[in-house]
Amino acid sequence: MPEEQRIALVTGGSAGLGYEIARTLMANGYRVMIVGRDDGRLQSACDRLSAGESSEVAWYRCDLANADDVDGLFSAVRDRFGRLDALVNCVGTSDRGLIENLEPDRLEFLLRQNVLTTLLCSQAAIGLLERSGGAIVNIGSLASKVGARYIGGYAAAKHSLAGMTQQMRLELRPRGIHVGLVSPGPIRRDDAGERYRGSVDESLPSRASAPGGGTRLKGLPPERVAKAVLRSIQRRVPDIILPGYLRILVSIGHALPRLGDWLLLKFTSHKED
Ligand SMILES: NC(=O)c1ccc[n+]([C@@H]2O[C@H](COP(=O)([O-])OP(=O)(O)OC[C@H]3O[C@@H](n4cnc5c(N)ncnc54)[C@H](OP(=O)(O)O)[C@@H]3O)[C@@H](O)[C@H]2O)c1
Repeated sequence: MPEEQRIALVTGGSAGLGYEIARTLMANGYRVMIVGRDDGRLQSACDRLSAGESSEVAWYRCDLANADDVDGLFSAVRDRFGRLDALVNCVGTSDRGLIENLEPDRLEFLLRQNVLTTLLCSQAAIGLLERSGGAIVNIGSLASKVGARYIGGYAAAKHSLAGMTQQMRLELRPRGIHVGLVSPGPIRRDDAGERYRGSVDESLPSRASAPGGGTRLKGLPPERVAKAVLRSIQRRVPDIILPGYLRILVSIGHALPRLGDWLLLKFTSHKED
């Protein structure tokens, strides 16, 4: 199938990383449908996306944590395109706070946003992807690989997503479907550092509201993360960590947890600690 006839569904494509992924897929010939909960944001994203590209973009409004909404979304995909080649599960929500203060309701919300949305969409996509031999790419985070301080229930939710992704990959491979995980560090964006200001507990260091809960990593260009997603789809790469050199630190942490903790503290500590 020529790429220009391929169809991709990008959840959370109206903003942030999802928008950039939609743009990259369109630039590579995919016809794209983006999904979010707000008509205005979706329409505005579609207007900007279609301005620079000849490839088609459409939107669908729904809450992906709601199973009926997801059924409606996949009926719309079948009606409009009749096929699906790639599903990028990008909806997700980060968090700030100490694990000792994590409320059950907050954890449930984070699991709904980061795991349930992905589960529902992936389950609904299997039939279409089996027919096309397509791919699912889930967007994790470094919090899918390590549990840093001050990130509330984010590591619990993204580790759960990582485990689910690997299980999906093993179960769906015999059916010809690729399942990948892309786990980026903090991504560069205009409001980085502002998003959690005001919502972080005053007892935490002020840098807890910074990207990654105050890691010393430079923000990744979103285009780089989007290209990694394309690579996972096209080359069937199972697991990508960005920046790539962190895979060594993650592997050390798994093999030698004491050293892993020491390295993690070193990467996330500041003079005030
Ligand atoms: N930002 C970072 O630095 C960073 C770093 C590593 C990993 N990530 C991961 O990358 C992904 C995108 O993050 P982001 O910061 O770019 O997100 P974002 O800017 O907050 O955008 C989230 C997108 O998802 C949509 N959305 C949220 N909840 C939804 C729901 N229940 N149903 C349907 N649509 C929903 C939002 O639209 P509406 O709100 O209008 O529905 C929006 O389009 C997440 O999985 C995140 O964990 C982000």
